[in-house]
Amino acid sequence: MGTTRRPLRLAPSLLSADFADLVTAIRAAETGGADAFHLDVMDGHFVPNISFGPALVKAVRARTRLPLDVHLMISEPLRYLSAFRSAGGDTLVFHVEASGSPVEIIRATHDLGAEVGIALRPDTPLDRADPVLDRVDQVLVMTVQPGFSGQAFIPTVLPKLEAARRELDRRNPGADLSVDGGITPDTAVLAARAGATFFVCGNSVYGQGTVADNLRSLRSALVRGSQRAVP
Ligand code: DX5
Ligand code: ZN
Repeated sequence: MGTTRRPLRLAPSLLSADFADLVTAIRAAETGGADAFHLDVMDGHFVPNISFGPALVKAVRARTRLPLDVHLMISEPLRYLSAFRSAGGDTLVFHVEASGSPVEIIRATHDLGAEVGIALRPDTPLDRADPVLDRVDQVLVMTVQPGFSGQAFIPTVLPKLEAARRELDRRNPGADLSVDGGITPDTAVLAARAGATFFVCGNSVYGQGTVADNLRSLRSALVRGSQRAVP
């Protein structure tokens, strides 16, 4: 774990892409300058929706060299860490609200040679992750309720994001602070100002317009958000 903040990165979420043409979606994001891909795994239990499992992660792995950030919206993350690591996940992100001991999940993920992230739903206080903040590679502050793409950013999460930034700067500055849900150029500026370093974008990349134009707008929002306001 590093001692300085990581550079700001954009991670398109393939949940918003055309599943029948993922290769085109992957190429477009790579050409447009994406830094990673975000893969949303949903089990129909931890969240009401069902998406995909390790087989799809493996298929994506075969088509890109960019890091794969695997968001495990599943009830029993410990049971599946090895499957998602073997499939090619570089970072495995589990929810603090899921079952199992966070310390054990973090250790098991590191033992598999992957980075580990801890995710919090919008209404889960940061305190829940506090005991392990210095052991993780990423803290994911959800900015929508997990389960579906295309929802609106919840602005009341911003104070929690700022608090996470302060704690990470003090205890684990090299960990990513990630935001996921409703990230557009406007909300990316707010999240960057609050100290986020990793920006998951579904609809704002794969919705309207071209992937290249969308990534360009998001990138310039990150630059704006990371510049100090001129008094
Ligand atoms: C929501 C997922 C998100 C989702 C983001 O449960 O975790 O990653 O794909 O999609 P947008 O950016 O459209 O809100
Ligand atoms: Zn996600």
